[in-house]
Amino acid sequence: MIPQQVIEAKRDGLELSSADLEQFLVAYQAEEVAEEQMAAMLMAMYFRGLSPLELATLTDVMLHSGRRLDFTHLPGPCVDKHSTGGVGDKVSLILAPVVAELGAFVPMMSGRALGHTGGTLDKLESMEGFRTRMPLSQFREVVEKVGCAMIGQTPEIAPLDGRLYALRNVTGTVASIPLISASIMSKKLAEGLSGLVLDVKVGEGAFLPDKRDALILAQTMVALGAQRGLPVSALLTAMDRPLGIAVGNGLEVAEALECLRGGGPPELRELTVHLAAEMAAVCGLEADRAVARRRATAALTSGAALQRFARMVEAQGGPRGLDTGAEPCAAAPVCGEAPAERGGVIQRVRPRILGFGLISLGGGRTRRKQAIDPRVGFEILVRPGEAVERGQPLARVHVASNTDLERAREMVREAIVIGSEAPDPPPYPLVLDRVDSSGQGHETSSL
Ligand code: URA
Repeated sequence: MIPQQVIEAKRDGLELSSADLEQFLVAYQAEEVAEEQMAAMLMAMYFRGLSPLELATLTDVMLHSGRRLDFTHLPGPCVDKHSTGGVGDKVSLILAPVVAELGAFVPMMSGRALGHTGGTLDKLESMEGFRTRMPLSQFREVVEKVGCAMIGQTPEIAPLDGRLYALRNVTGTVASIPLISASIMSKKLAEGLSGLVLDVKVGEGAFLPDKRDALILAQTMVALGAQRGLPVSALLTAMDRPLGIAVGNGLEVAEALECLRGGGPPELRELTVHLAAEMAAVCGLEADRAVARRRATAALTSGAALQRFARMVEAQGGPRGLDTGAEPCAAAPVCGEAPAERGGVIQRVRPRILGFGLISLGGGRTRRKQAIDPRVGFEILVRPGEAVERGQPLARVHVASNTDLERAREMVREAIVIGSEAPDPPPYPLVLDRVDSSGQGHETSSL
């Protein structure tokens, strides 16, 4: 195989044979195809897309580049959720213990912040001592003992995806339906699950803001799972605004904990309960979603999910006593309000501006492996459609210094758009659509 010939064929819009694509990918893994050649191939794939055969080959080669976990010895189904990435999305932290309470095992493998979006691993690490890296044997032990555990992608799981993901992040090739689909599904197929739920974000804060693109992404991933024997369903959910109030790693952990203590923002609780019911259905635990939703709500209000979360955090080296009121994370040294400069109606709360704002305050990365400040972020106190008066606080900003305070206030003023009328178009419903293996989008009315 001559790598540049394969790249040229893809560049020119020809379909690569399975053999050629597999050889190219395996050679890259063996360092026989250079980074710059793979970068060129990814860009060709980004522009040309992938045929169904190419998509299947890419997914399978990434899946088989590492180990596959096996949880068949556990006395219950194994299920996970994966989000395509958003701002303020701390659902995983609440969802895993809730679903474990319903009777499933949740071996969650999560990612770090990507682009303007946050990552569950960074949130977890804002709790002092919490280990997101551990040998797979230990991960399996925590899942077995507690019912849920959360780690990062290990070098054993789809390592080819790990390398390609890092390369895509710095070559402008993330926002591609087939590349995202193969990346997510190769990792999830390696987890040895009985079911998977995808939270596909729609709106300005998503990698693919357009609803049609999000629907195709959901259908592509659901089909990849079904073809390989994994039941998958997807919810398309609103990311035209941040989810909940907190944006920033430590603040988001605190908000997740509030939710586990029976409070928290209603949208966050509602989405968690929806996803929990979907997970219970997809892994065969509870087909009646209304029953599962009631049980998930009870797990939150009774404190049972909180206790399980506290046990998981302790088992992974994090702070003790989260179920008896301990604070999970350190606070930022400076906190101030950002007041409205005029009265009116909130038109939009723009997640991308807040996501990039968080990075610029030190709460995200501009370089790989850069340390981040988990204490900084925003608490957004208003929602689209809400009326505000001049001087009313729109947000609380948590920053590292007085110099950052004014910068953060400016970000809030740019992100929160105030007008005179009700927002047009109106904000998205929290859950826009559902996709299952029939491949169809099912509007929310049928949920
Ligand atoms: N999440 C992933 O795991 N992969 C992508 O490509 C994008 C989001």
